[in-house]
Amino acid sequence: MMSRILEPELMDDPLQATAYAEADFSAENQGFVDRFREYFPDCTQGHIFDLGCGPGDIPVRLALALPECRITGVDASAPMVQLAERTIQQAGLSDRVRVRCERFQDLAGVNQADAAVSNSLLHHIPNPLQFWHKLRLIVKPGSPVLVMDLLRPESPQAAQAIVDQYAKDAPDILRRDFYNSLLAAFTEDEIAAQLAQMNLTRLLIDVPDDRHWVVGGIIH
Ligand SMILES: C[S@@+](CC[C@H](N)C(=O)[O-])C[C@H]1O[C@@H](n2cnc3c(N)ncnc32)[C@H](O)[C@@H]1O
Repeated sequence: MMSRILEPELMDDPLQATAYAEADFSAENQGFVDRFREYFPDCTQGHIFDLGCGPGDIPVRLALALPECRITGVDASAPMVQLAERTIQQAGLSDRVRVRCERFQDLAGVNQADAAVSNSLLHHIPNPLQFWHKLRLIVKPGSPVLVMDLLRPESPQAAQAIVDQYAKDAPDILRRDFYNSLLAAFTEDEIAAQLAQMNLTRLLIDVPDDRHWVVGGIIH
């Protein structure tokens, strides 16, 4: 198994952010929101945080699926936040969906969210324990969390094969980012070790396909 190769934490190159926003992640993102509703059917109200919200597609889909919830997206990339603000405004959801341009590590306050989600953020983070620590701090005890990200393949060749299979016709900048993200991602065993270290073993890990892991459950 190849070792993890870090990629830059933030996606703050405007071209990179635009290419990401223009890509079609609708099936993946809607699947993520559907999974949230399936895991946590009772979570229909309150304030949900989305850490590393990127261009805002998931906060908008969450808000549409959960019309009584407020969503706060957090992303430290100014171009991503601008794209997210535009998406939220175009969806007519500015009253319920907000974005904060901030590193999640710097979020102040504890017990402020009724639920938290995060998709495709963790592989950007040099020290993943910072993420699990903050996730636990920001939600109220007893709150649902759902986190999804890429799985690191066995080798650079396997990573390239995944890029070729799932992003064959994507622009070069997206193919490059996808490849680098796969190399920076964690294995299922590494995620399990992180959860054990943070005393979060009540959260369950699922591997729904050949390139993703999902962690979900109630944070106590
Ligand atoms: C691959 S994108 C995923 C965006 C979105 N969650 C989605 O699924 O479409 C990762 C995002 O995390 C943001 N990010 C990376 N490190 C961060 C940090 N420490 N705090 C906040 N946002 C961060 C990046 O700027 C980028 O927009």
